[in-house]
Amino acid sequence: MKNFSYHNPVKIIFGKQTIAQVANEIPAHAKVLVTYGGGSIKKNGVYEQVKAALSGFSHLEFGGIEPNPRYETCMKAVELIRREKVTFLLAVGGGSVVDGTKLIAAAVSFGGNPWDIVAKRAPFTAALPIGVVLTLPATGTEMNGNSVITRAETQEKLSFSSPLAYPKFSILDPETTYSLPPRQVSNGVVDAFVHVAEQYMNPPASAPLQDYYAESILKVLIEEGGKALSAPLDYNVRANVMWAATMALNGLIACGVPQDWSTHEIGHELTALHGLDHGQTLAVVMPGVWRTLRAQKFDKLLQMGERVFGITGGAPEERVEAAIDATENFFRSLGTKTRLSEYGLNASVIEPIAQRFAARGHAFITADMVREVLTQRV
Ligand code: NZQ
Ligand code: ZN
Repeated sequence: MKNFSYHNPVKIIFGKQTIAQVANEIPAHAKVLVTYGGGSIKKNGVYEQVKAALSGFSHLEFGGIEPNPRYETCMKAVELIRREKVTFLLAVGGGSVVDGTKLIAAAVSFGGNPWDIVAKRAPFTAALPIGVVLTLPATGTEMNGNSVITRAETQEKLSFSSPLAYPKFSILDPETTYSLPPRQVSNGVVDAFVHVAEQYMNPPASAPLQDYYAESILKVLIEEGGKALSAPLDYNVRANVMWAATMALNGLIACGVPQDWSTHEIGHELTALHGLDHGQTLAVVMPGVWRTLRAQKFDKLLQMGERVFGITGGAPEERVEAAIDATENFFRSLGTKTRLSEYGLNASVIEPIAQRFAARGHAFITADMVREVLTQRV
């Protein structure tokens, strides 16, 4: 096992009717900015619950943060915050609202060009405090310090990470997820599954506790993911999916083990250039990454096949292939497509993506690797 340090400062408040507790978590004299997305919170009762919780606080609103949150939009919120002297941010929505709010929090007092926080991962020394009311289980952003931002002008989708970007608290009320469209439910389950995979499907690190944790999360996603689609008002199903998605990317299963985020990095380009949802890109890309890097992922593919999918028969090579197929079939069982052609894309999309990785001089994901991965996925 590798050395590690682990510190996760996010207070999680989980369960039914917990949004009212926002009032206990925000400093009494705070001036709050509520950030939200395209309006789903105004149709499912979340907005009213947040307003009620904030009745004793001075507060303003900033709506319109898009899926794949845009830098340009975030900068409008920064202007508002400076003008109105906001002291606390409350992000209400899915991963995009939370990620956008993390950039906003960091940009407010940043001396230089705020795009450098994302593009150059420029360090920042202060950020406004953030609270979260999460409405979409998927990204894990509610319990991590990561943020993924899109710059519309240049069609770039890039991430940054900072200890200052952790939310102070996150409220996870599974009932807020009843209103999710099936496509977002599926995207979320796929995203959480792939988060586990990026931290697990790597050379064994003599870390059985992390392995068993990771496999447990995968099993829960497989057992409950489909039920969230077929029984959307089942509270316990929603609760288990929500907690599994949080546990998939709060740093715990990454302790002491190697990670490989190739599927995410290649997937981000498909969103940036062709507009696929984040979860959709992952379902397309991951089987290609696993086959391209089969040698280094072989032992864990075998292990996952046996422990998660119950694949025990046949030669090791066959079992590895069956494990990759079982994973793709799981994504398809959720209604998520797994081929570029199913999104109307053909092999012509591959070279521009390969060139982007070449231009960045990416240490691990070479242009040739991108070509090999995506050629399999047309
Ligand atoms: O904008 P509104 O109207 O709120 O609608 C949203 C949006 O259209 C809707 N929605 C959210 N909660 C709902 C709901 N509709 C009905 N009922 C609800 N309860 O769902 C749509 C998608 O929302 P979005 O926030 O974009 O989805 P998600 O949570 O999947 O976030 C995706 C973003 O997170 C990034 C992705 O790259 C992408 O930009 N990621 C962030 C990570 C992190 N910070 O750690 C890690 C991930 O790998 C991921 O990259
Ligand atoms: Zn993801």
